[in-house]
Amino acid sequence: MNYKLLSAGILLMAGSAVAPARDSSLRFDPTAFSAQTLTMPDGTQVSFKAYEGIYYVTNVEDSVYQSLNIYVPDKLVSSDKVPIFLRTYVGGYAASTAKSPSPADATGRALKEGYVVCIPGSRGSNSTVERNGKTIYTGTAPNGLLDLKAAVRYLRYNDDLIPGSSELIFTDGTSAGGAMSSLLGATGNSHDYDKYLKEMGAADARDDVFAAICYCPITDLNHADMEYEWLYGCTNTGVRHLSEDQMVISDELAAECPAYLNSLGLKDADGNPIDADNYKEYLKTFLIASAHRALQEGCEIPDTIGFTFYQDKQGPMGGGPGGMGPRGPKPDGRGQAGQPPFGDGRQAPSFGPGNAPRFNKTSDFVTGLDLDRYLSYVASVTPLKTPPAFDQMGVLIDTPSPENKVFGNEEGEAANFTDFSLRHRLDNPAAELSKDMRHRVELMNPMNYIGSDKSTVASNWYIRHGAKDRDTSFLVPINLATKLMNTGKNVDFALPWNRPHSGDYNLDDLFNWIKTTLAQ
Ligand code: DHB
Repeated sequence: MNYKLLSAGILLMAGSAVAPARDSSLRFDPTAFSAQTLTMPDGTQVSFKAYEGIYYVTNVEDSVYQSLNIYVPDKLVSSDKVPIFLRTYVGGYAASTAKSPSPADATGRALKEGYVVCIPGSRGSNSTVERNGKTIYTGTAPNGLLDLKAAVRYLRYNDDLIPGSSELIFTDGTSAGGAMSSLLGATGNSHDYDKYLKEMGAADARDDVFAAICYCPITDLNHADMEYEWLYGCTNTGVRHLSEDQMVISDELAAECPAYLNSLGLKDADGNPIDADNYKEYLKTFLIASAHRALQEGCEIPDTIGFTFYQDKQGPMGGGPGGMGPRGPKPDGRGQAGQPPFGDGRQAPSFGPGNAPRFNKTSDFVTGLDLDRYLSYVASVTPLKTPPAFDQMGVLIDTPSPENKVFGNEEGEAANFTDFSLRHRLDNPAAELSKDMRHRVELMNPMNYIGSDKSTVASNWYIRHGAKDRDTSFLVPINLATKLMNTGKNVDFALPWNRPHSGDYNLDDLFNWIKTTLAQ
């Protein structure tokens, strides 16, 4: 006899409203904390209550990773809108433990702002348990994402007990963590994940979030290889030094990209269609916006990396009276070669609906960009990945990528996750992916959910990908941001100048955006 169902039935018969039965083991205990303090870089002390080691599912498979920490500042922001800043430290699609806040990243800053911070652990490609004398890999895709969704559900389920509002969850992550953040933002409440979350014993609650902060998200994994080669193919015979075999793979992958780009049906901020033919011009607007802003901030941009500049130094932006000065470092040293041009609070222009980068060609510094030249520059700073950049295992090399590992099986065997790489395996080429793998790949791609009716997509997005980050193609974050913008979301997107693959930078900029978003 199911006692809960029976009692709910009795209440229903009595005509009362029935609150969902709550599983006490998933209830937050407001008394179980320790008092802690963080010293911020500027010397200020932030004191908070730390609630640590809380399991967010009832069927814990991996006790090392399936828990979360919650930090509640003693001085909550004085507003009726106290957000919860949920930071995942997933990197390389590996497992990540529930960590403590750091003064060096957005978690410390969020506490200082008076926000509640949640840092969940999650299983990943390298997490294992021993079962019946065997080593079982627990974090194959989509399990890491399921853990993070379960953490969101825990926050919702305990909204009445945890300070802050679970209606104002901001997720944040970098790289594979940025991908996880994008997935949390895109897949809210999708029934595609219900069955798994139920099996795990996740709380019976919604898992959509208010905002997703994504630094260099390594996502759209099943198209990332073609997007990489389509963009960087111009460097194959130059700085990239590909072998003939690699060149063949690169060309074949690149040839698959236009159909994908065209299938997205993207539009720029003015509503003009973006397709494979004009895509590179679209990409250039973001890079030019980034360089343009860098110059305004006093950064020196060499003449050799592809940008052309407005020459009239007497013009409104030139070095004449009232102008902004010639290109060159500022007296304080900002903009020196090798130095990030932006301190906190300064950023490349970004777009939201109606806020596309626009330039007055007669008065601005940057007038054009030789994209191939710039891409060669990016490739010369950090050597590019070899093709296929992501689903690489078994094609030209045996080594599995982080993505091959996370799409592996419980025995720890890595796997291919695209038809292309399966077909191009030197040993035992297979015709196509299994139905199960196709489903797993689908669950791990936010692009499948944005603009669909399958999920509740976050309303607010902050997406950054460094202008010299070659870990994935620029197409990946641009497509993500553009699809979100096209579906009416509030999107703040930029390719910050001189940034390599990294996250949680320009925190003034990020937290200003958070404040603006909360005020809307
Ligand atoms: C990460 C970086 C990569 O280049 C990649 O393919 C996957 C993950 C990371 O830093 O998380």
